[in-house]
Amino acid sequence: MLIPYKAIDWENEKLVLLDQTLLPVQEVYETYDTVAPLIDAIQRLVVRGAPALGVTGAYGVVIAMDQAARENWTSEQFEKALDDLRDARPTAVNLAWAVEKIRVETSKGRDAVLAIAHKFAEEDRQSSTDMGNIGADWLINALGKKPLTLLTHCNTGSLATTGTGTALGVIREMYTRGLVAEVYADESRPLLQGSRLTAWELMKSGIPHRIQPDSAAATAILSGRIDAALIGADRIAKNGDSANKIGSLGVALACHEAGIPFLVVAPESTVDRNIATGKDIHIEIRGDEELTFFKGIQVAPTGTKTFNPAFDVTPAKYISAVITELKAYEIGKGETL
Ligand code: MRU
Repeated sequence: MLIPYKAIDWENEKLVLLDQTLLPVQEVYETYDTVAPLIDAIQRLVVRGAPALGVTGAYGVVIAMDQAARENWTSEQFEKALDDLRDARPTAVNLAWAVEKIRVETSKGRDAVLAIAHKFAEEDRQSSTDMGNIGADWLINALGKKPLTLLTHCNTGSLATTGTGTALGVIREMYTRGLVAEVYADESRPLLQGSRLTAWELMKSGIPHRIQPDSAAATAILSGRIDAALIGADRIAKNGDSANKIGSLGVALACHEAGIPFLVVAPESTVDRNIATGKDIHIEIRGDEELTFFKGIQVAPTGTKTFNPAFDVTPAKYISAVITELKAYEIGKGETL
């Protein structure tokens, strides 16, 4: 499937990011060649989604090497820049994974590191395609070869990867095979990755869809409208517990109650085999203003306290399978990663 936009690109020795905070109204591309503005962009969700954060981290190391050379940084300044880049967002393991994997290669020189970053981007693109095929085969095997109504949460498409996407990659592949009746996209409050980004991608690809408030997901599932739900992940523990955008857990619980498949689709780079269970996943807590203001308008009394976790952890027992580029891990049948 031809995708007419790129979340991340490398052009004229600079990183180019599609500013996802401005979608779906404006399609604006910004270039980055210094580390601090790149970290700010990651934290503001200009670029987001676990695999895209990994690729951004890889190119970020090249940017740090170029800036260090231009500004004569000490090695301490350089290492500190890489630490700050790695820690810019804590839950998506792909960012730390990519920065640490490339940090040990910096002695090979800047061009070698750039070549590794390009390789990461290409591997990520290919892994989307592979997950798409494995996930579509899994759904057909479980539910039969018929058009399905699929629910998804947050954005897991070409804006979150360098390819067709994780969960959205499976949905795209199902659509290519003529097997999508409709996609229900949860709006994914508070930052609306579902209604702003997933709907934008589905619209551009001509895939039939509708958006719904996150609070409608359980009703859609328990009323029999949905055949299966698919989400991405930011970090997956060895036992299959999976962190993803806040609200994913509610979708999983509803699918469990309805007895329909709940799939987690993510590349192997999202699997953190250093942690046994989801209890060890660090969940990013974001600022009050994401809840107390909406597009600059105050929507809660001044001083209201908030609880604003960016992610939740779905226990493995509610997950039918984890789809990676290598295989379908049958978590629902007791398999681990
Ligand atoms: O806060 P975000 O937008 O970075 O959260 C993204 C998600 O939760 C995605 O579902 C996850 O990273 C998988 S993206 C393929």
